[in-house]
Amino acid sequence: MTARMFAKLWMLLATLVVAGAATPLAMAHEYDVHAKPKGERCVEPTDFMRRNHMELLKHHRNEALRQGVRTTKHSLKGCVECHASAKTGSVAASKEDFCVSCHAYTAVHLDCWDCHATKPGKKALKEGVAP
Ligand code: HEC
Ligand code: HEC
Ligand code: HEC
Repeated sequence: MTARMFAKLWMLLATLVVAGAATPLAMAHEYDVHAKPKGERCVEPTDFMRRNHMELLKHHRNEALRQGVRTTKHSLKGCVECHASAKTGSVAASKEDFCVSCHAYTAVHLDCWDCHATKPGKKALKEGVAP
């Protein structure tokens, strides 16, 4: 094998590895017109949110429940207010709705909506759920 052939092969391999590793991160999340979020920006940079929203939510919940810290910056209610679809009015009523769209793809199932409202409004918790 010539050095040039070897270099080409190596490049091909490197490209494949990079592409493979980048796919989940670049996970295409094309917005349906209706799913376009409200506002100019998210509560944190989009890239950060894409990767770390679960940690943020868990952290915020723990703070709210254990330490009684009530901030609204990372509240689930906030997510719902900006991310509810214009079509269903919800973040999780149809497969295209924001919180379901990626999760369906990655097979994440959330139980959050057993208790938390999926639509914007005054009540953040569903009827009958005690805070
Ligand atoms: C069994 C019912 C139940 C389930 C399931 C549940 N929660 Fe909660 N959650 C509550 C209650 C009750 C509170 C307290 C609300 C309060 O005191 O304002 C709360 C508070 C929170 C808070 C802090 C307050 C807020 O609105 O931001 C966050 C964040 C949160 N939950 C996220 C989640 C996420 C994410 C999931 C799913 C992974 C989830 N919860 C599943 C009942 C539930
Ligand atoms: C003030 C409105 C607003 C709030 C509140 C908000 N978001 Fe966002 N979010 C946006 C906007 C606007 C974008 C798109 C930004 C862009 O295109 O760069 C976005 C982007 C995202 C993305 C990346 C989506 C993608 O295309 O990859 C995720 C994930 C996300 N938000 C989750 C959340 C979660 C979880 C919460 C609650 C903790 C939340 N957002 C609260 C407005 C909001
Ligand atoms: C850009 C795609 C995308 C969007 C949009 C998105 N998520 Fe996620 N979410 C993911 C991925 C990927 C995971 C799984 C990460 C992992 O496997 O650790 C996840 C995991 C989670 C988890 C942790 C689940 C667990 O079992 O630990 C929570 C909670 C969560 N998302 C909440 C939300 C909420 C609430 C919304 C809507 C406001 C939302 N996500 C929107 C991609 C997304």
